[in-house]
Amino acid sequence: MSRPTIPVSKNNIGDVMNKLLIALLGSLAMATGVQAADLIAGEAAYQKFTCASCHGADAKSPIMPEYPILAGQYADYIAHALTAYQRGQAGAPATANIRKHAIMGAMATQLSATDIANISAWIAAQPSDLAVRK
Ligand code: HEC
Repeated sequence: MSRPTIPVSKNNIGDVMNKLLIALLGSLAMATGVQAADLIAGEAAYQKFTCASCHGADAKSPIMPEYPILAGQYADYIAHALTAYQRGQAGAPATANIRKHAIMGAMATQLSATDIANISAWIAAQPSDLAVRK
């Protein structure tokens, strides 16, 4: 019986290594519980806090073209953005890595850390044409 092998040539060795690395990092993240976010709770919170009314129910059909598409963005980027709006709204100094925006400041202030983790994970899991491949 022949065993399946990964064809490795000089040209795709880097690609193979990248895939192995991604698989390794993925299992590490799960082992450390980093990905404990709840997608169902994330979608529910996204609806409850009316995020969909501006960003679209699918998080990629915003009501205004200048409103950002969120679907498919990295979860840590989304979480970072939301906490930066919270800091901005709380009046933290500009040196504290804030985002100052009247609408999003008011929206983000309502979110708990758990809401942010869950919403961010749900947004990241949505199919999208953004750079994160699904
Ligand atoms: C009334 C309209 C409106 C609502 C409701 C709203 N947003 Fe936004 N959102 C915006 C606008 C406008 C921006 C761009 C703000 C800026 O320029 O910083 C934005 C930006 C963002 C960003 C930053 C995106 C990026 O790529 O940096 C995130 C994340 C986000 N919103 C998530 C949410 C979430 C989660 C909710 C619900 C809790 C929500 N928004 C509710 C209008 C809205």
